[in-house]
Amino acid sequence: MIRSKPWALVYRGQAHVAARRGSFVFGFWMRPGPRGCKKCTVSLSIALGDKRLISRLEAQAYLGYAAIAPVTECVSLAVRELLDDYARLGNLALAKWLPRREVLRQRLGQLIGADSAHIALCTSATRGLTDLALCLPWRPDDGVLVGDGEFPGNVSPWQNVAQLFALRVDFLPKLRTRDDDEFLSALEARLRAGRVRLVALSAVQFQTGIRAPIEAVIRLCRAYGAELAVDAIQACGVVPLDVVALDIDYLVGGAHKWLMALEGAGFLYVKPECTRKLVPRTAGWLSHEEGLRFLFEGPGMLRYDRPIKSGIQFMEGTSANGVGYAALEAALEPILRLGVPAIFSHVGAYLDALEAGLLARGLTSVRPSQASRRSGILSFQPPMPRTAAELVSALREQGIIATMPDGVVRLAPHFPNGLDEVPCVLAALDIILGD
Ligand SMILES: Cc1ncc(COP(=O)(O)O)c(C=O)c1O
Repeated sequence: MIRSKPWALVYRGQAHVAARRGSFVFGFWMRPGPRGCKKCTVSLSIALGDKRLISRLEAQAYLGYAAIAPVTECVSLAVRELLDDYARLGNLALAKWLPRREVLRQRLGQLIGADSAHIALCTSATRGLTDLALCLPWRPDDGVLVGDGEFPGNVSPWQNVAQLFALRVDFLPKLRTRDDDEFLSALEARLRAGRVRLVALSAVQFQTGIRAPIEAVIRLCRAYGAELAVDAIQACGVVPLDVVALDIDYLVGGAHKWLMALEGAGFLYVKPECTRKLVPRTAGWLSHEEGLRFLFEGPGMLRYDRPIKSGIQFMEGTSANGVGYAALEAALEPILRLGVPAIFSHVGAYLDALEAGLLARGLTSVRPSQASRRSGILSFQPPMPRTAAELVSALREQGIIATMPDGVVRLAPHFPNGLDEVPCVLAALDIILGD
């Protein structure tokens, strides 16, 4: 097992700092009362390969992080704390949990190298892309390029706006394991042909795990005046990513995979220059400046002419998924403490060992050979005449959880997986393939 420096995970179920000190939050004077600042604390040291945060998980080797992560102790505790607060306090619980959303934005900012002011919370990666697509300042006949082989969540939002705003959506060739040239020359040819407003691409392809050549794509987008929207749900939490260093225009992520939280939470990053150009077509009652005043101050505050927030948080226009956000805030703590680069190396070492074993058994891996194009995913073709469905179900019987997007067997470990699992996974495959 690779061990990094152990760190203390201390999840403090405490009221927000403001509420701890006592302050005017959300219209209520909040002071920690006898039960108002209950502490629920998990205190343990955690390291790469350490399963204590998922100790209730039944699988021997859980390789399904590219699908849905198991619930960790941090997430369970945070959700229980929030539910307990709402059970005891009802509406008053918001005074604690609403400011905590800024803590979440800050953690997400730390994760992707952005200022929290440029991040809006949302309910999923697809929702983030859908709202972004609706708010872009389209002109008729603008072009959108999407990659063939993208997850549909990064295609349908563009197809929908194409209908609404008379846009053209075209597909780029699939990213291949060995060769970017076909993809990049096709991209350049389409950009050169003109009127491409936006390129939409996943940072990591969901099925093959191929990491997109983002730097090269950005260079081409800049050269031809197009923008880039990145679906980073298969990267955030396992592949290091810095939106400012890469100069990414738009990026979405989701909670329930590599960020190890729950379904129904996600986020959208927008570069400040790009935010200024957005048209707030998705605005809701919380998109307005001081949109809450009418609920907590005296009469005469109900107005419909309050300006829309100038920052990207105008996208957070309605009541939201508080449980999902609490879970995500808690889930990010161990990931940020361990550090995404360390997690990436750990997962890479696991997949190197696994891939060597797969190749030795004559299986065909679709993992790229260049390190720069690898991610947390290793997929392989099921050997004829076996199908991915058969293999995944046989693996499950042996306590190994894999997934099977569009016909490949996908193996996706995260920081709790230990390298000592690899021989067990290979031994299980020997039994299955020997049958
Ligand atoms: C690349 C990619 N984008 C989007 C999604 C969908 O995420 P959500 O349902 O959170 O929008 C997935 C889910 O597997 C995915 O792999």
